[in-house]
Parts: sequence; C-alpha cells; structure tokens
Amino acid sequence: MHSFNIHKSTPLILLVSIMGFMALNGCENPSGSSDPMSRFIDSLIQEMTIEEKAGQLTLYTSGWDVTGPVLRDDYMDELRAGRAGNLFNAHTVDYARELQRIAVEETLLGIPLLFGLDVIHGYKTTFPIPLAEASSWDLDIIEKSAHLAAKEAASAGVNWTFNPMVDVARDPRWGRIAEGSGEDPFLGALIGAAKVRGIQGKNLADPTTILACVKHFAAYGASQAGRDYHTVDMSDRELRQNYLPPYKAALEAGAATVMTSFNELDGVPASGNHYLMTEILRNEWGFDGFVVTDYTSINEMVPHGVVANEKEAAELAFKAGVQMDMQGGLYSRYIPELIAEGKIEESTLNEYVRQVLEMKYKLGLFEDPYRYLNKDREQQTLYSQELMNHALLAAKESIVLLKNQPASKGQSNLLPLSKKLGSVALIGPLADNRKDMLGTWHVAGDASKVITLKEGIAQIAPGVKINYARGAGFSGDDRSGFAEALAAARKSDVVIMAIGEDYTQSGEAASRSEIGLPGPQQELIEAIHALGKPIVAVVMAGRPLTINWIDEHIPAVMNAWHLGTMSGKAIAETLFGDHNPAGKLTITFPKNVGQIPIYYNMKNTGRPFSADNKYTSKYLDVSNEPLYPFGYGLSYTTFEYSDISLSSSELSFDSSLTVSATVTNTGTYEGQEVVQLYVRDMVGSVTRPVKELKGFEKIKLKPGESKRVSFNLSAKDLAFYTLDMRFEAEPGDFKVFIGPNSSTGLEADFKLK
Ligand code: NOJ
Repeated sequence: MHSFNIHKSTPLILLVSIMGFMALNGCENPSGSSDPMSRFIDSLIQEMTIEEKAGQLTLYTSGWDVTGPVLRDDYMDELRAGRAGNLFNAHTVDYARELQRIAVEETLLGIPLLFGLDVIHGYKTTFPIPLAEASSWDLDIIEKSAHLAAKEAASAGVNWTFNPMVDVARDPRWGRIAEGSGEDPFLGALIGAAKVRGIQGKNLADPTTILACVKHFAAYGASQAGRDYHTVDMSDRELRQNYLPPYKAALEAGAATVMTSFNELDGVPASGNHYLMTEILRNEWGFDGFVVTDYTSINEMVPHGVVANEKEAAELAFKAGVQMDMQGGLYSRYIPELIAEGKIEESTLNEYVRQVLEMKYKLGLFEDPYRYLNKDREQQTLYSQELMNHALLAAKESIVLLKNQPASKGQSNLLPLSKKLGSVALIGPLADNRKDMLGTWHVAGDASKVITLKEGIAQIAPGVKINYARGAGFSGDDRSGFAEALAAARKSDVVIMAIGEDYTQSGEAASRSEIGLPGPQQELIEAIHALGKPIVAVVMAGRPLTINWIDEHIPAVMNAWHLGTMSGKAIAETLFGDHNPAGKLTITFPKNVGQIPIYYNMKNTGRPFSADNKYTSKYLDVSNEPLYPFGYGLSYTTFEYSDISLSSSELSFDSSLTVSATVTNTGTYEGQEVVQLYVRDMVGSVTRPVKELKGFEKIKLKPGESKRVSFNLSAKDLAFYTLDMRFEAEPGDFKVFIGPNSSTGLEADFKLK
C-alpha cells in the first residue's frame, strides 16, 4: 500500500488527481476513510490550520454599489487569508468569477467558495411570491419554478440558495408570511419537498442545480403577535404536530443545508438551541448536511440574554450544533481561542468543516471551481423564454378569485370582463407599477422587465380604452390624486381598482399591526364606489388583508398577491377571461386583527360556539368565521360536489380506505378545481383539530363534465402526537370531508379499528 503526503504547496487540482489516483488504486489516506470524497476531505482537513477551518465555517455578505456588487475591503483580506470560505449576495459571473479566482489561486489551500443568495421566488425572472404560488396547489408548477429559479441563479454564479422557507404561519400581521406556504403543515410539507427537488435536482454536480437551505429552523412563523424576530413559545406537541413537518419533509427530500431562525424557542434562541440543532435535526432526523445561522443570530444571543458576550455566544452556537456563522464573524474570531482554551473540541471542528466541504465536493467545485461561472450560459439563461413562459403560468395559477357577482340585479357576474367594453378606468397605486409587483425578496429581479397591469390590459384587450389614474399611494394621506381618479371612473364603463401593498410592506421586518389597505386607498375606493360604477377590486399584497368593506360593497374581488415579472399579463388574462382562475387560499383571511390567530385546523374547545348560548367561545363584536377560509377560491364556472362514498365504513391499522366524491362542472366555462380532503378525529387521548387537510387533487372539467375523485387513507395518515408523545393513530370514530374549501364539503364517517 502506498500512502501520499499532501502538502500545503500541493495545488488543489493536483490534489484532486492524487486523490482520484488513490481512489482507483485502493490507497489508504491517513484517516482510513473509504470513499473518495471522504479521503479527499480528510486529507484537506489535515492540511488546514484552525483559522482556515474556522474560515470554512464563515459566510460573509457582499454589498451592492451603483456599479454592481462589491465586497468590503476587510472581507477581501479575510478571503485572501482563507478566513472567509463562503460568500453571499456575490452574484453575476464576472464578479463571482473574480472572487472564486482569488479563493482558488491566492489562498494557500485554494478551496473554492460557496456563493449563496436569497433566490426566494426567482433570480432575475421573478415568479409569484411563495404565499401566492402556494395558492396554485400545483406541486409541479412549484417544483418547476424552484428549478428554473435555481437554474437561472446558477448561471450567474450562485451555487446555494436560502430557500425554501417552510415556516408555518398563522398570523398575517407577520410580514414574512409572504415568504412561506401558509398555515397548513400538510400542504407546507409537500410544497417544501417540491421546492427542494426543484432546486437540487437529482445530481448536485449538474451546474443547473444548487444547494437548497431549509429555513428558518424552527417555528419562526409563530413569532408572538406577528412581530418579527419576536419570542416563540409553544408546547413540544404543538411544535412537532404543526410546525416541524415541513422542515422534516424538505430534509427528507434531500435538502443539503438548514438555516437557524432568529427566534427563541422555550427560552433558548435557535442558534444556541441544542435540542433543535442536534437532538431533533441530527439525532432524530439523521441530517448530515450543514446548518448555517440566520445572519448575525449568534451575535444576537447577547441581547437575547442567554450569554454575556460574543465569545460565549460563539461557544453556545458551536456546542448546539451550528456549523456556519453567517455574517457575524464570531466563529472566525473566537474558534481558535475556544479551541486553545479547551472549551470546544477540534474533532468537532473537523466534523463541521467536513460537512461544509462535502457540499463543495458534491457541487463539483473541487473538480471545477468555475463550474457555475460561465458567461455564455449566463447570457443564454437570464430571462429566457422558458423562464418567462413559466413565470406567466405560475402567476395565473396563483390568482384567487374571492368574489364574483353581478354589478347590478339581473346582470351576469361582473367577471370575466368583455373585450368589447368601450373603456375601463384603471385606478390605484398598483395599476401602472413595476417594482412593487415583484414583491418581497426580489433580490435580482429587474423591475424594467415587469409587465404592468396597464400594459397587460392593453395587450390582452387592445380594443378597450384605458383611463388610468394612480389615485393614491401606499402611505401618508395625500388625496391630491383622488379628483383625477374620480374623473377617470366617471367616463368609463367599468372600474378596475389595483390596490394593496407595496413590496416593502411585507417580508422581513415588515410586520403590520393593522392589515387593511395601507395609506388612503380605502378612502379612495369608497369615493369611487360612491359613483355607482361597476368595480373590480384587484388586491395585490404579501399577506391577507382585512378587506371586509370591499367584500361587502364591491361585486368582484380578485386576490393577485405580488405575482412577479409577468404580473400584469397574468392579471389581465384573468380579468378578461383568457384564463379562468383556480387558485385557493392557503391562509385564512381574518375579518379583523382581533381574530388573529385564526386558522382552519383549530381545536373545538369545551364550549364550541352556539348562537343561543352566551357562555360559548366567541367574541362580542365579531363572529368566529373568517372573511375567507383556508382552501377558498372561486372560478368563472361553478362546481357541484355529490355522492361521497367510502370503500368501507371501517379501516384497520394495516389496510387503507378509499373516499370518493363526484365533482361536476355546472357552469359555462371550462375550469379547474382543487378538490380537498379533510378528516376529523372525533376523540383522541389529546384534543384534535376540527379539520385537518389530508389530500387534494387539482382537476380540470369542461362545462357539464363530471369526475369521480378518490383519495386513499390509511392509519398512518391519521397519526398524531398522542398523550405520551408517540406519533401514531388511535382507534375510534373519524369524519371525512370532501369539498371545495375547509369550511364546507360532503361528509362521511368511518371507524379506525
Ligand atoms: C435574513 C433572513 O431572515 C433570511 O431569510 C435570509 O436568508 C438571510 N437574511 C440572508 O439574506
């Protein structure tokens, strides 16, 4: 047996060929690991100083200047010294290539960099915000968006995205609700897994795939009162039952990395939380990738008050099981000291470094550090037709029709609008707007590529005259645009109000305590309404808005979220009937802020609401019902549900049951319907929700056409965390529902025996 000594002076490329030779010839490396990747990485780790190791566990951001991305000078020094092994926000081939060259050619070991970026709903071509896209209930569309976004970002040097965000959220005051899939753990798990498949593909070495990062671990969506970065506290049962499933599903789909959350959980900030980062993530779930902090959340453990200073913070995070420090710089500053003082183990450090280097290896960066840095590929991929076509499809499928009635008695429903209309007034701050349509986290999205609603309508209905007026803004109380808006409305046949939030009013650090229309928009729509014209409200926002007045007074209401680059075209196609909307809400719309948290899978209480009993669970000033329930959304056609049946009224623990119902298109348009399956476990060793989503199918029906839709259920679908915290189903009575949303449907009963 030969053995090789690898020295610092050995260039990386040579190192790789030596390791390849060793692999082929069955050589042993000093650590005795068997597979080529482990042998290669072991040898590399042996060559590294403690400082270089800490550098591999360090991630710094680059910034953007008017001329493009820039790295602070002190980071450049860190990079050259091998103390910054990873960068984020450093995209575009030209820029990232130069940084990679420095890492590979100017550092002693030449270890290539990871380049991270928040490719949340697109890189340049911007898809709908995640909460919008979830409304499509279309896992293929969602997976493809994730894949195309990854492919586009990968062409510009990015090899790691901080996506998917799978935080279950029940509080629309929380601005980050826009970034997730809504309130349901079952749907959230399916969407999280689909996104990981899309981002990582089957082979990480394929340069159109990149590393995914499941975030924010854990339970960030439960920030108290919807205030960002706020405290989270919940029972272990609630955590495991309702908040952990999407993270777990995304990891089972193979997600390579995990990001900690900013919040504390049960008194321990996530970045110092051993229970989360080691006991659950590693020991229970067997995760073998690496964990990165959310930004400076190690440093933030000082103000959290669990450590006295930043050195203690670094120690706590390291011991909790956090591999990489994003932006805080504490690992690079303190790991050498902590090792020297015997406070942390070098063997653990080696293990952490291995977890990071393995990802670089799997991406193929050791073989070719410039794999993601091909200028031609970048030029061919950005805003390609494939991306733009998909952005339009995803945008259309994300639109949720909330209401559609005739503008006056005896007429047909206001939507879809006729292309033969003489004129429409197009009013509101989102009517001729590019940037806000991109929504939160449109990191590299170019507003100039956005199709505005005004442009969309002009393209789709060229015969219709558009009388445009902005009318109002998103904040303040400037009403100087009202007169122009009223004049536009007066001279038009129909008014389209394009209202809602700007892109900064949802997302990170964008919590709101009132979630009505911001600024003078409510007043504007009331003033226009007073003219008596038929009005369509197109609401664009990053969260559910409390739009009761609109629901009461405006005949047609469409929730169009922030739909990205193709927004205007998608909305116009839908308004004028080229597309029949089929989106369904994945988040409950409350009637007012006082109802929050309001979600469909609530518990029954010991005193469920009863109209004739005062002492039941309710408010004096608002009903318990939401404005629009989870799963809700209309179509231009109508669907009727009939004939629910069960293959058996009993289910044993080792068999399955089929539940079926017939869905008929009873209207006059071809349309799609998301058929939903819910169950209720009538009695448990702990209380169970009044409904839980267990399945869905999106079907397409021509007018008059029927389809029998069937779902299989087995005991494992009915499992929950029982009184003694076992995840299993309990025998007893169940109700099952098939319907168009969480608040209505056909019902049947079965027994689990
Ligand atoms: C903070 C955000 O919470 C997180 O979602 C994001 O990935 C990082 N910053 C990096 O930008």
